[in-house]
Amino acid sequence: FKHAVPNALDPGFKYMPEAGRLRIRAAPAVQMTGLVGADGETPVPTAVWGYGPHNDGVSWPGRTIEMNVNDSLEVSWENDLIEGSMPVSHLLPVDGSLHWAYSLPGYEYYRIASDGVPIVTHVHGGLNDSPFDGNPEYFFSPRFRIKGPRWEARYYRYGGGFPYWNDMAGTLWYHDHALGITRLNVYAGLAGFFILRDDFDTGLPDNPPGLPAGPYELAFAVQDRMFLNTGELFYPAFPGDPFYSDFIDDEGAELPEEVFPEGGPTALAEFFGDHMLVNGTIWPKCEVERRQYRVRLLNGCDSRFMRLRLKVVHSNETDPAPGYAIPFYVIGSDQSLRETATQVEEVDFAPGERLDLVIDFKAVPWGSRLIVENLLGDAPFGGELPKKADLFPDRRTDRIMAFDVVSEFDSDRADTSIVDGTWLDGGVSVPGAVTTTRKLALFEGTDEFGRLKPLLGMAEPVEDVSDNWVDGTLDWDSPITENPGLGDTEIWEIYNATGDAHPIHLHLVHFEILDRQPFSARLIEKPAEHGEGGEDGEGGEGYRLENIRVVGQPRGPAPQEQTRRDMVMALPGEVTRIKMRFDKPGRYVWHCHILSHEDHEMMRPYHVGPIDG
Ligand code: C2O
Ligand code: CU
Repeated sequence: FKHAVPNALDPGFKYMPEAGRLRIRAAPAVQMTGLVGADGETPVPTAVWGYGPHNDGVSWPGRTIEMNVNDSLEVSWENDLIEGSMPVSHLLPVDGSLHWAYSLPGYEYYRIASDGVPIVTHVHGGLNDSPFDGNPEYFFSPRFRIKGPRWEARYYRYGGGFPYWNDMAGTLWYHDHALGITRLNVYAGLAGFFILRDDFDTGLPDNPPGLPAGPYELAFAVQDRMFLNTGELFYPAFPGDPFYSDFIDDEGAELPEEVFPEGGPTALAEFFGDHMLVNGTIWPKCEVERRQYRVRLLNGCDSRFMRLRLKVVHSNETDPAPGYAIPFYVIGSDQSLRETATQVEEVDFAPGERLDLVIDFKAVPWGSRLIVENLLGDAPFGGELPKKADLFPDRRTDRIMAFDVVSEFDSDRADTSIVDGTWLDGGVSVPGAVTTTRKLALFEGTDEFGRLKPLLGMAEPVEDVSDNWVDGTLDWDSPITENPGLGDTEIWEIYNATGDAHPIHLHLVHFEILDRQPFSARLIEKPAEHGEGGEDGEGGEGYRLENIRVVGQPRGPAPQEQTRRDMVMALPGEVTRIKMRFDKPGRYVWHCHILSHEDHEMMRPYHVGPIDG
């Protein structure tokens, strides 16, 4: 905990709209992360990609955008992944065997090395118009030379309040979403905060709910990474690479050679870095006054679930004694505040989720150090109690960052007084009579190389989609099955038939998490006589569920889930129920936010209103 962490809400970190317009480019940059070279002391720089103003430097995380829900914003997202006049190649090994941008029909002859890296930016949590949503097939290469098959617009419009856009303050973020290489583009650095304010949560010191503001409001993107000694970002992809076989399938595969006969690069089942970074700084520290702070957190990891706790590690007094965990307040998450503040001692934190917390550093004496601990290990989350670093016991990913309480509060600025039950006017209730309840499912298959291939699908498929075998699993390019009408309110029941938790995200909407309930069912595997998959010869397996029966009692949402959500953790063996209204027409997607899963078929398009091609 040596290096100070920048605050993503610091005025210098922001890129604020002038006259409602921004030109934001994605471009290469070089950053110091706090990493030192092989000698153990010389700082080494890391090449990354960042987002920033078109005429200025870019950073990882990208420059923070902040706006009021009533304002309008037009963004031209530009692909400046070029050097001189040549497109840059990818910072990381690209697996061309996945379903990805340049494997789509008509795009097979494009090459990253000569044609550039395709990108497209999604504002995660925005009630975006379909053309401006950053759908994976809306990608584009540098200077818009290559455009994805669904590419529509150069300028993306956000804002204006409901029905045009979000009408409540929340913690949104933006990140790359290009088909099949999202995990790599985000790993390279293409993600940043997009903060929404409203007249209640103004971000000004006299805001109505009395939340800490100004220098007392912090925003931190938590991401795990691996590095080479030379400073480069490292992503295992070839046989012989460190960690390669551990990440190929869920269990830590034994067959790396057979897994990818071409010898790589290969996508991974999941990715767990061995360094924790906060706003691009490894294991950083943040110096705080002894008062309340608002802390927004983004889980921008590929696969890492966390369970966070605030542990006191040393202090100059004895009360509370080192080793204690201190409670903190959950005030919101994802797209809104909670109805009231609520005190917790631990909070779960899945990839793609945002948390909005208030930490009261008066709970510890001046001179204390608090560590943000992660109680979960370097492995997929099974939903059970904490497993600490099961795969790699010697890693220090059980800690994220430190807060050093270095001074009494600045008496010129009054402290805030968030307590358990403080009214915040947020929460969620989705309007409208429910028109449809869909039974959806999460499956685990394997691809033609024997690698884990997680899939979305239907729990009770009715249509015969491949001769006599009623398949519940669906690929990215299977026909649309989720087609709500414009303005419809639906409940989606997501039956997780896999062994791991998956963080599920829907574009366009915010949803209410209703409950979770264990279920039993028979998992039916496609019989061998039905051959290998669909017409494209890919994906050898199909599944469906039979005799689904819920067992046990439904459980309501956790404190951090009682907000306008766009993420929900679907636990294994449970059905997770969410409710939402579809307020805009057109093409959107829903997917697992484990980036390695979404790039490997765990993503589906859905369509609101009539489908015209
Ligand atoms: Cu944060 Cu579809 O993504
Ligand atoms: Cu997943």
